[in-house]
Amino acid sequence: MDISGHAAIIAGGASGLGAATARALTEAGGRVAVLDVNMEIARETAASIDGIAIECDVTNAEGADAAIRQAVEAHGAPRVLVNCAGIGPAERILGREGPQPLENYARCININVVGTFNMLRLVSEHMSKADTLDADGERGVIVNTSSVAADDGQLGQAAYASSKGAIASLTLPAARELARYGIRVMAIAPGVFETPMLRGLPQPAQASLEQATPFPSRLGTPEEYANFVMCILGNKMLNGEVVRLDGALRLAHG
Ligand SMILES: NC(=O)c1ccc[n+]([C@@H]2O[C@H](COP(=O)([O-])OP(=O)(O)OC[C@H]3O[C@@H](n4cnc5c(N)ncnc54)[C@H](O)[C@@H]3O)[C@@H](O)[C@H]2O)c1
Repeated sequence: MDISGHAAIIAGGASGLGAATARALTEAGGRVAVLDVNMEIARETAASIDGIAIECDVTNAEGADAAIRQAVEAHGAPRVLVNCAGIGPAERILGREGPQPLENYARCININVVGTFNMLRLVSEHMSKADTLDADGERGVIVNTSSVAADDGQLGQAAYASSKGAIASLTLPAARELARYGIRVMAIAPGVFETPMLRGLPQPAQASLEQATPFPSRLGTPEEYANFVMCILGNKMLNGEVVRLDGALRLAHG
């Protein structure tokens, strides 16, 4: 898909992987709306790309609906949705203080899974009503963000890994269902990328993740994630699949 002149929505677009994707889409001529709970950073990111920042908690049905409508009013029907909103908590199932509080597990599932699904269901309605873009009848592309933790969840990642597994499992049924509207659905499962989420880890943990990545033996850059989103847009046969983007990293036990 050529995004030039078309609208794109980046959920969690204020920071990290989402912000880099917002920049890449803008450079390709897209009209980008950055939807995020953190309006301070969202405004900065949007200003830097001449896009718009809209406050949005992806877990809120009415709030997300209103935010998406605002984006549609400003830019027209979105042709691209990239779901990057997420949190990466680390907590053991049985910690020193006892069992992991259920609300902590539920919060992670709510933001990562319910939030992703909420954006997908709402944005796909707008996409489905837009004109087709080409002879194949393509209308839009949705890219969700899973994680290598979906396959290789480590100690303390029960909530995070199971949330990312759910996002991976959403890919095929969503692609099958939205195919009739000419909407593709893909998921990227990043390894370790240099974003504020990762920079929250202690330095030794970051260094060991770099060493565990066979090649290139470093953290991925947000631009490399954004580049892959652009590859997905550019190749229509990519649909219904979860692709690891990880330099051959396989996370160890933890
Ligand atoms: N950085 C990595 O190595 C890595 C690896 C695998 C997967 N991921 C996934 O990529 C996605 C982006 O992560 P990142 O590293 O760029 O992190 P980040 O913290 O830089 O960005 C996440 C963004 O999501 C926003 N957000 C959080 N909760 C929200 C909510 N309820 N509604 C709307 N926005 C919300 C935050 O404000 C932030 O701007 C996440 O889903 C993360 O799990 C990241």
